[in-house]
Amino acid sequence: MARITRRLKDWAAERRSIGLLGQSVGFVPTMGALHAGHLSLLERARRENDRVVLSIFVNPTQFNDPGDLERYPRTLDRDVELVGSLADHILVPEPEEMYPERFRYRVTETGESLALEGAHRPGHFDGVLTVVLKLLNLVQPHRAYFGEKDRQQLELVQGMVKALHLDLEIVPCPTLRDPDGLALSSRNSRLSPEGRARAPRFPRILRGAPDAPTAAATLQSEGFQVDYVEDRAGVRLGAVRIEGVRLIDNVPL
Ligand code: PAF
Repeated sequence: MARITRRLKDWAAERRSIGLLGQSVGFVPTMGALHAGHLSLLERARRENDRVVLSIFVNPTQFNDPGDLERYPRTLDRDVELVGSLADHILVPEPEEMYPERFRYRVTETGESLALEGAHRPGHFDGVLTVVLKLLNLVQPHRAYFGEKDRQQLELVQGMVKALHLDLEIVPCPTLRDPDGLALSSRNSRLSPEGRARAPRFPRILRGAPDAPTAAATLQSEGFQVDYVEDRAGVRLGAVRIEGVRLIDNVPL
């Protein structure tokens, strides 16, 4: 079973002892409510490293909607059970310890982070990049694993690592989907059975429409609230709301 650590000073001692053994560390940052997609990241980290560290931290600074933060599923006991022996360490820090300076210091990317997700969730990527940098500093991994479902997040993290000369590898991992095509997401659990049955139309329309405006119009006509659909560099990215639940996805063109 994985060892759970809550206090950062305890984690620092554990990290030092891993360092003394000269072992490689793979890191999977999450906000919990784990699903098979997270487990696939852990499996890959397990194959490629001596030690695997998972973090579970519902990061308040990346939620621009307080209701969304409040409703975000918190399922720690179930998460720990699911992880089993796929991780050696589970870091579960408290917001007060992660943000002793109350977010006065932050990482801001001033270009790509303002488009797509950033345009609809102002400040979101400041919160993401800041917490990822804090976590990378705490965990000091050799490799960190990020899902391609959050493609813009993945690209911004890769950009930050390069810009700030961080010494680690960011490993992109493919999106896992249910058999009906819906990308696995912690938010799917908030859909009613009826909403869950309609949701797979989202990736199907993204994939099947001849262009982004047609995809957006078709989604709208089927009752999805569309935040954006855009084609960029051979990928179609979209974000929609259904039953007040925000889903994002991307498909290759
Ligand atoms: O993708 C997520 O779950 C979060 O954005 C991350 C990377 C754990 C940062 O809070």
